[in-house]
Amino acid sequence: MGRRTILIALVVVLLVLWSSEGLQHRVGDSIWSIPPTNNFYKNWSSSYIFHTGDTLYFDFDSGLYNVLQVSRGEFDMCTGYEPYKTFIDGPATIPLLMKGVFYYVCNVSNYCALGLKLWVIVEQT
Ligand SMILES: *[C@@H]1O[C@H](CO)[C@@H](O)[C@H](O)[C@H]1NC(C)=O
Ligand SMILES: *[C@@H]1O[C@H](CO)[C@@H](O)[C@H](O)[C@H]1NC(C)=O
Repeated sequence: MGRRTILIALVVVLLVLWSSEGLQHRVGDSIWSIPPTNNFYKNWSSSYIFHTGDTLYFDFDSGLYNVLQVSRGEFDMCTGYEPYKTFIDGPATIPLLMKGVFYYVCNVSNYCALGLKLWVIVEQT
């Protein structure tokens, strides 16, 4: 095998690795905190397309905020009694593994009611 063949093979491998790498979305393009308007996170998530393999990056300080993955019902009610997953330590990097709709709230104080909640539609890559 010539040097050139090896180089081409290497480039192909790198391209494949790169294209299968998901995107990281910094939630709200900002820190995860009480937003300026109630529909801020709704607006944010509708501005992007999320795919399996991507990650959500919730940028917050532990203790001040948290992220709970909850059901649609708890999302609507802004509660976190039976979370599917709890992320106490910030910042939290959450992989989007499956196609579907996923709901997240912060259950510190009344922050969720103030708009600190997010839902995303994840499409198959
Ligand atoms: C909606 O989201 C887009 C993309 O993040 C942003 O540029 C725009 O300022 C947002 N609008 C509001 C009202 O938050
Ligand atoms: C937030 O959710 C966690 C996990 O379910 C729970 O232990 C905690 O009591 C909740 N806090 C509030 C203020 O509801």
